[in-house]
Amino acid sequence: MSYRDKTVVITGGGSGLGAAMADIFAAEDANLALLDIDGASAEAKAAVLREGGANAIALRVDVADKDSVAEAASAVREHFGACDVLCANVGVQQFGAIDKLTDQDWSWVLSVNVNGVINTVAAFLPLLRAAGGSRHIVVTASASYFTPGVRMAAYVTSKYAVVGYAEVLRRELAEEGINVAMLFPGGMATRHLESSMAARPEELGESKLDREDIEAMMASADMTAENHVTTAEHAVRNLLDELANGHPYIITHGSYKGQVQAQQRAVLDAFDRMLANP
Ligand SMILES: NC(=O)c1ccc[n+]([C@@H]2O[C@H](COP(=O)([O-])OP(=O)(O)OC[C@H]3O[C@@H](n4cnc5c(N)ncnc54)[C@H](O)[C@@H]3O)[C@@H](O)[C@H]2O)c1
Repeated sequence: MSYRDKTVVITGGGSGLGAAMADIFAAEDANLALLDIDGASAEAKAAVLREGGANAIALRVDVADKDSVAEAASAVREHFGACDVLCANVGVQQFGAIDKLTDQDWSWVLSVNVNGVINTVAAFLPLLRAAGGSRHIVVTASASYFTPGVRMAAYVTSKYAVVGYAEVLRRELAEEGINVAMLFPGGMATRHLESSMAARPEELGESKLDREDIEAMMASADMTAENHVTTAEHAVRNLLDELANGHPYIITHGSYKGQVQAQQRAVLDAFDRMLANP
């Protein structure tokens, strides 16, 4: 697919993975719309892209707020006329043991990570449909879908929900020729924890970060292997090829294949036990 004059919309485009996605699409001469609750970082990234010759705009958006995303979709329609690739990429993190996570923690993580993706697709689907041709929706999940560690119940629950949503979306949009891919990044050195804390609405109280939670999570999910954490730039190196081939699952990096195999073996064993006693 040539991305020249195609429009790529990226939520969370001001930082980390979203900004790295913007770079690879800009290198293909795509138009870019970077949506982020941190309007200044999105604008700074868009300015850098424009300096490099790209046609890029930034929009301040809270993906948890349906109206805010709908306004952004109108602005993209006005500016670029279409959307060919939608990267529903925003996700926030709140660590905490299950009996420590508050109602506000759950509400925030689910409203951004789950409803945020639903709101984003709902707002931009009409633009994707109107575009025709080769189109993609990329939903950012997480390797923690495959390696659910302790102290991450809100986040892992949200990413499971997002995968379920994307699986159905992929099936529903297949006949329209809109490809839906699920991206499972492993650990990346981004501003994720910092920007999550900054993005949490004041009325929900401060986001608490306890190092002990992170250490417990890393130990439980066996995330200590050397190749588990990388840069966002490295994580997106194969994204365009994966999209071109229409693969449903995109693995960016990480050392957890053995854990996926073990989990699948356990599921298949459960079938075998059932089949032995039908
Ligand atoms: N960093 C990791 O180790 C890692 C691992 C697996 C998956 N992920 C996922 O990758 C995605 C991107 O994360 P990242 O590491 O690039 O983090 P990041 O913090 O660098 O980027 C996320 C961006 O989302 C924005 N954002 C936060 N809440 C928002 C909201 N309500 N509305 C709009 N924008 C909002 C932030 O301002 C930030 O610019 C997330 O879905 C995250 O869950 C990250």
